[in-house]
Amino acid sequence: MNELNRYTRKDFLRTAGSTALFATLGIGFYGCGSSTDAMEGTEVRPPSGGSGAIEISNNGNTITIDLSVNSVAGLNQQGGWTLIRDAATLAVNVDGTTIRAFTSVCTHAGCSTNWQFSNNRFECTCHGSRFDTSGSVVRGPASRDLQEFSVVRDGDLIVISK
Ligand code: FES
Repeated sequence: MNELNRYTRKDFLRTAGSTALFATLGIGFYGCGSSTDAMEGTEVRPPSGGSGAIEISNNGNTITIDLSVNSVAGLNQQGGWTLIRDAATLAVNVDGTTIRAFTSVCTHAGCSTNWQFSNNRFECTCHGSRFDTSGSVVRGPASRDLQEFSVVRDGDLIVISK
């Protein structure tokens, strides 16, 4: 990495207000893969021994993901997704470039950790509600859409703001 890239990345992180906890400090990050559909899913594996791939700051309201780190590299590909459990956030790559992020708190009854993704649909396996990649309900029992969070991407760096 040359100096210009290093500066840009550092500056970007500073601008995003990323100051706090790193995955190496034990922040849970749960990679989720896709499921049964090989065309859709990209396995995103959890870091082994901490990778620094994800940091959560501003009281959990800002999540910075470094896609250059292997543990989250799958999010670089269409259909790659992950659940960031400690920030109650789902992130998905919808088209190979665009990352969208949503609350992982299901609007039906509040389950936040039981998610699957396939065929461009998130499914909360607590009771089977499904949501599309815009967070819109496509199958109940949930009746309200998932709240979407702001996402800014600069190369491999993704900043999600709640
Ligand atoms: Fe998600 Fe019921 S809590 S479907």
